[in-house]
Amino acid sequence: MIHESRSEDDTHRIAAALAASLQPGAVLLLSGDLGAGKTAFVRGLAEGLKIDPADVTSPTFTLVHEYRHGRLPLVHVDLYRLEQVDLDELGMDSELAERGVLAIEWAERLTRLPHGALVVELMVTGEDLRTITIAPPRS
Ligand SMILES: Nc1ncnc2c1ncn2[C@@H]1O[C@H](COP(=O)(O)OP(=O)(O)OP(=O)(O)O)[C@@H](O)[C@H]1O
Ligand SMILES: [Mg+2]
Repeated sequence: MIHESRSEDDTHRIAAALAASLQPGAVLLLSGDLGAGKTAFVRGLAEGLKIDPADVTSPTFTLVHEYRHGRLPLVHVDLYRLEQVDLDELGMDSELAERGVLAIEWAERLTRLPHGALVVELMVTGEDLRTITIAPPRS
């Protein structure tokens, strides 16, 4: 699936629409350059999962954020500061992730991909333009 986003709000809407269709245990691998809009996409996912924005804390230095009060819980992981990592070593609440949606920024850092994951690739195509491709990982 390919979407053209013309603004951060567009990206929120695209992510929120995807969120509505996700089942428990969904895993999204977010890829794209610095500032491509990965975090913006996760914010849209949160909106789509009816997570109270007041629950969404700022990322600062934490690798894992867990939001529990949506249609499904959301686990947001950002691996930017790591080189290579195994998902099992992150210390996230894996039981929560299995019941909800796991969204991973800089998923390229993972040594192996979780089963059944979808890749969300954000390409910068202009100042406010992004091409967002949602597809199974290329094997
Ligand atoms: N169409 C768009 N979709 C998403 N963000 C956009 C868009 N157009 C402009 N932007 C801007 O691009 C920036 C995206 O920032 P964001 O933190 O989401 O990127 P990121 O991919 O998470 O970066 P990082 O790799 O640093 O975590 C924001 O400043 C946002 O306002
Ligand atoms: Mg980010």
